[in-house]
Amino acid sequence: MAKARLTFADIGVSVTVPAGTRIIEVSEKVGSGIAYGCRESDCGTCLTTVESGMEHLSEKSPYEIATLAGHNVPANVRLACQTLVLGDAVIRPYGG
Ligand code: FES
Repeated sequence: MAKARLTFADIGVSVTVPAGTRIIEVSEKVGSGIAYGCRESDCGTCLTTVESGMEHLSEKSPYEIATLAGHNVPANVRLACQTLVLGDAVIRPYGG
C-alpha cells in the first residue's frame, strides 16, 4: 500500500500514514493544534494551512469548497476533516 509522510509543522511531528488517510484521523493522535467541531465539512473549525504538498491531497468536494468560500481563506487552506493525504505534505492549523 502506498504511504504518505504527513508533517504537522506546529508541533514539529512527522508521521507516515497509508495513502488515503484523512488528516483528522491523525492530527488528534499526534497532538496537533488543529481543532474540530462538526467533522462534516460544515463549521470550518478545522481550517488547515497546507505549507507544501497541496498536489498530494484529495480533491475538494463541493461541500468543502462552499465552506472554504464562506471563510474567505487563501487557496492553500483545506478542511482537515475532509482532506485525504495521498502523498507527502506539510500542514499547520490555519492562523497557527
Ligand atoms: S470540523 Fe467542521 S468543517 Fe471540519
